[in-house]
Amino acid sequence: MHHSKVKVLVVGFAAVLTASVLFSCRKDVGVNPLLAYNDKALLDSAKNEAAFTYYKNSPSSVYSGTNGPHGAFKLKFNKIAYAALTDNGKLPVGQQFPNGSFIVKEIPSNGLYAMMYKREGSWIWSEVYNDGSILYSALQDPSVCTSCHSQSGHRDLVVSFNFY
Ligand code: HEC
Repeated sequence: MHHSKVKVLVVGFAAVLTASVLFSCRKDVGVNPLLAYNDKALLDSAKNEAAFTYYKNSPSSVYSGTNGPHGAFKLKFNKIAYAALTDNGKLPVGQQFPNGSFIVKEIPSNGLYAMMYKREGSWIWSEVYNDGSILYSALQDPSVCTSCHSQSGHRDLVVSFNFY
């Protein structure tokens, strides 16, 4: 093989390798690997029952959901989020959920998980079915979610407190 052809091959291979390393480092996990935030990672976390406490500490409660787009639902908070619910089980008015807060709305009728995860001061929004199929990806523009969740009375964009 001619010398310059070898060089082209080597440089080309290095470029592909670099690109694939960069890509694979970008795809799944945030700056803190404990805080994975892609749709599948969120779904896995949402299924980890031990990490959650149900709203008002009532695991059997199913709420009607007549004000939201999903229908009847259950509502649970991870430990970080639940610890912030110091106003009779709600987030005090004017306060923010801390980073790492994870709020999951479960829809028993179709196995959907609607999820909000607080990372670096803002919510990541995602909707995934329990079989892993994605209804609304965390990578999509969340304004569909936030435009409704910023309705009057919301507390840090959480709206269940208005109704339940
Ligand atoms: C048309 C309004 C509307 C839209 C759009 C909407 N939601 Fe909601 N969402 C609600 C309401 C209202 C509730 C309170 C529970 C209920 O009544 O269903 C709620 C509850 C939730 C909760 C439980 C925490 C809370 O705020 O009470 C999560 C999590 C959630 N929604 C995620 C999402 C995601 C993710 C999207 C976008 C893909 C989204 N929602 C879009 C209205 C909306």
